Amino acid sequence: KKVVLAYSGGLDTSVIAKWIAETYDCEVVTFTADLGQGEEVEPARAKAQALGIKEIYIEDLREEFVRDYVYPMFRANTVYEGEYLLGTSIARPLIAKRLIEIANETGADAIAHGATGKGNDQVRFELGAYALKPGVKVIAPWREWDLTSREKLMAYCEEHSIPVDFNKAGTKSPYSMDANLLHISYESGILEDPWAEAEEDMWRWSVSPEAAPDEATYLELEYRRGDIVAIDGKEMTPAEVLTYLNKVGGDNGVGRLDIVENRYVGMKSRGCYETPGGTIMLKAHRAIESITLDREVAHLKDGLMPKYAEVIYNGYWWSPERKMLQEMIDATQEPVNGTVRVKLYKGNVIVVGRKSDDSLFDEKIATMEEDAGAYDQKDAEGFIKLNALRLKIAAAKGRSQL
Ligand code: ARG
Ligand code: SIN
Repeated sequence: KKVVLAYSGGLDTSVIAKWIAETYDCEVVTFTADLGQGEEVEPARAKAQALGIKEIYIEDLREEFVRDYVYPMFRANTVYEGEYLLGTSIARPLIAKRLIEIANETGADAIAHGATGKGNDQVRFELGAYALKPGVKVIAPWREWDLTSREKLMAYCEEHSIPVDFNKAGTKSPYSMDANLLHISYESGILEDPWAEAEEDMWRWSVSPEAAPDEATYLELEYRRGDIVAIDGKEMTPAEVLTYLNKVGGDNGVGRLDIVENRYVGMKSRGCYETPGGTIMLKAHRAIESITLDREVAHLKDGLMPKYAEVIYNGYWWSPERKMLQEMIDATQEPVNGTVRVKLYKGNVIVVGRKSDDSLFDEKIATMEEDAGAYDQKDAEGFIKLNALRLKIAAAKGRSQL
C-alpha cells in the first residue's frame, strides 16, 4: 500500500506524513510543487528524507499553472461573487492532477492532503482525484485524527522526533495562508471578526495605496487570442507575465481585497487576498475584448461567467461542464488580439488606450461628425417605434408600468 501526499514541507504536512505512515502502515510518497508561492521548494527534500520518505517528487509547475489554468480562466473574465479572483481555487486542479499521475507512476492506490474538513480545498482535491482516477482512496487526516489542538500536535512531534522548526521561518503566522503566482490569501486569526480591519503588516505582496508612488506607471499589454504575450514590447512566457505584473502591481498598491465569501460547504468565510497581476489582467482583458468581440458574443460570455466561476470555486475543473464552457470561451478568443495601455496609480488600474488589427470599432460610424452613410439616422426612428410596439399595446390596454 502506498499513498501520495501533497507535501508543503511545513510542520502540518510533515506530521501528516508520519501519521499516515504509522496509522495506515504504508509507504508515503511526497509531492511538492513550486507554483510561484515565493518559497524555496528544494528544502522539502531534506525534510521528507528526515521523515524516512523514499520517493520524493519536487516540481516546478509555474509555467504549466499559468498557461493551462490561470490564462484559460482569465479568458472568461472570471470572478466569484463579484470579487474573488479564485487564486487558490484554480491551483487545486493542477495539484490533484499531479497527485493522480504520480500515484499511477509509483503504483500508489491512495492520495492524501492537508486541507481541513471545513473548507473548499478538500472538496477541490478530492473531486479532482475521483474524476481522474475513480477507484482512488483519499486520506484526509484533518478529518480523521485527534490532533485537534496545537498542543496535541506538538506532543506528537515530540514523540516522533519531528523537528518543530519544520515550521517555515520558525514562527507561526497568525493567519492561514496560501500563495501561488496568482495570489496570496489570508484567513482565520483576527480576520474571523468580519468587522476587524486587517493589520497593515499582514499584507506581503503589495504596498498600501497610501504608500504607493505619486507618479503613475504605464504598461502596454499585448494580447494574442485572449492571452498576454508581451509587455512593453518584450515577449514573455505566461509565468513571466504574471511575475512581472505582480511586481509592478504590488509596487503600486494594486490588487488588495477583503471579502466575506460563501464556501461550497455552506459557511461564510472572511478572507483577504492580494492579486496584483490578476487585477491588471482582468481589467486589460475586458478592454481588449471591448473592441474585438461582437456585442452578443460578449454578453453571452458574460452571462455564463458566474456559472463558470462557481464551477471552478466548487472544485469541478475536471468536469464535463467546465470542459464545455472552456471550449465555448476559447472559441470566442480568436479575434482577441491587440494592445491595451493601462495606468497604475495608488491601487487603481486605469485603462487609457486600446488598439487592434481585429477591432470592430469603426470611427466613421461612431463619429458625431457627418458620417459616410453606413448609418442613416432616419433608420433609428423605425427601430425605436417597432421596439416600442409591445410597450404601447400594454399601455393602451391599461397596464401601467408606474
Ligand atoms: N477561501 C479561498 C478559497 O476557497 C482561499 C482558501 C485558502 N486555502 C488555504 N489552504 N489557506 O479559494
Ligand atoms: C482549509 O480548510 O484547509 C482551508 C480553507 C478552505 O479550503 O476553504
